[in-house]
Amino acid sequence: MAMNITAGTSELRDVTKMERIGAHSHIRGLGLDDRLEPRANSQGLVGQAKARKAAGMILKMVQEGKIAGRAMLFAGPPSTGKTAIALGMAQSLGSDVPFTIITASEVFSLSMSKTEALTQAFRRSIGVRIKEETELIEGQVVEIQIDRSLTGATKTGKLTIKTTDMETVYDLGMKMIEALTKEKVLAGDVIAIDKTSGKVTKLGRSFAQSRDYDAMGADTKFVQCPEGEIQKRKEVVHTVSLHEIDVINSRTQGFLALFAGDTGEIKPELRNQINAKVAEWREEGKAEIVPGILFIDEVHMLDIECFSFLNRALEGELAPLVIMASNRGMARIRGTKFRSPHGLPVDLLDRVLIVSTKPYTEDEVQQIIQIRCQEEDTQLTPDALTVLTSMSMQTTLRYALNLIACGKVVARKRKAEMVDVEDLRRAYTYFMDEKRSVQWLKEQQGSLVFEEVGGKEDELMDIGQ
Ligand SMILES: Nc1ncnc2c1ncn2[C@@H]1O[C@H](COP(=O)(O)OP(=O)(O)OP(=O)(O)O)[C@@H](O)[C@H]1O
Ligand SMILES: [Mg+2]
Repeated sequence: MAMNITAGTSELRDVTKMERIGAHSHIRGLGLDDRLEPRANSQGLVGQAKARKAAGMILKMVQEGKIAGRAMLFAGPPSTGKTAIALGMAQSLGSDVPFTIITASEVFSLSMSKTEALTQAFRRSIGVRIKEETELIEGQVVEIQIDRSLTGATKTGKLTIKTTDMETVYDLGMKMIEALTKEKVLAGDVIAIDKTSGKVTKLGRSFAQSRDYDAMGADTKFVQCPEGEIQKRKEVVHTVSLHEIDVINSRTQGFLALFAGDTGEIKPELRNQINAKVAEWREEGKAEIVPGILFIDEVHMLDIECFSFLNRALEGELAPLVIMASNRGMARIRGTKFRSPHGLPVDLLDRVLIVSTKPYTEDEVQQIIQIRCQEEDTQLTPDALTVLTSMSMQTTLRYALNLIACGKVVARKRKAEMVDVEDLRRAYTYFMDEKRSVQWLKEQQGSLVFEEVGGKEDELMDIGQ
């Protein structure tokens, strides 16, 4: 039986994304000017000029639709802004180009096979821009009449609606009555009703009603009574990802699975059908493919099977741009005995454009600390800023950034507005950085549980190289 493949766009249109406050919430973009030159300190990003410029160039190519099925790798020491720059790219990409972020280890922890998880991530990163014609009923409400049944359980009604040229009466069912009541539609409002989804939109009050102005709120919008036909065809464009089309059409799941996040495995036959359908839509001029970006953080945590899958998937017709990040030097490729740069097999490295990130100078670190202080709504005294900057140079940038919040708590305890050197010093004694922690472990001489991992080479051994 031939399946009826839909893009399910009317269900998806209302899904909005939430923003999270976190370690990277100060990043607003890549901070480049029109010529793609990185500004020293802009949109939350400081320094790291070369990598930002490279990221900007790649973005430009993605936006022009020139690049898909390629891969790039951000390689550099920890806390040099690899993840931050990738997030900056996501921010400047524009809302209808998909950007998916996964961490390599997620692939192993989902309740599905590794290759299925990667396939889903790939398909999430490919957008399909669909042009749909919807039929609208648009006009000024003349009258709404609602009749309750004797028990009050059911309602029926009539809606009279007009344009400057005609007037029509529609019968209303329960669902439409509810929708109209929810939007508080009154006689004199100009409304649009989407015929497929039944969604009611209030466009404003008709000018003819403006004499009732006093009775309306100050924010009431007045519009002209529409002209011409009441029923109109309108073209709307929206972008959904291939993965969303997959889930909506998988019979076991349905689109609700998108909200629960529990999509399970999707059958390859279904994907083939969807690919064929999308190709058909493209030929008919109904849809366009928008290749997006898939960002795989900590990519050295993938294993050899995943890497060979990536190699192959990058050559597929519907492949996004894959960006990876790794902080490893020479490391063992998971699932093999071999070592290789960044923990990536050489055949994959061969296809990848590598961009390196470098440690920050003291001045740059100071600016990043200042940005974070603003973000966390914390004030440092000038001395504290100098001390925190030099702490960062001796420990790590991340540790220093974490101390901002701790310092704030300590300062608040002594009822001070600003975080001073003493507060930082306290916080420094409460929380160890990595170097002190290693030192402390050495001093403990085996009094902790599970200290010896065992002599043979196991999965944990390549961490921290
Ligand atoms: N150039 C920068 N401008 C502003 N903030 C930055 C910059 N680089 C890094 N940061 C901030 O410093 C912290 C650490 O950076 P990030 O997480 O990007 O490092 P990373 O290179 O991904 O490290 P790892 O290899 O450990 O994952 C983050 O909070 C990040 O937002
Ligand atoms: Mg990172």
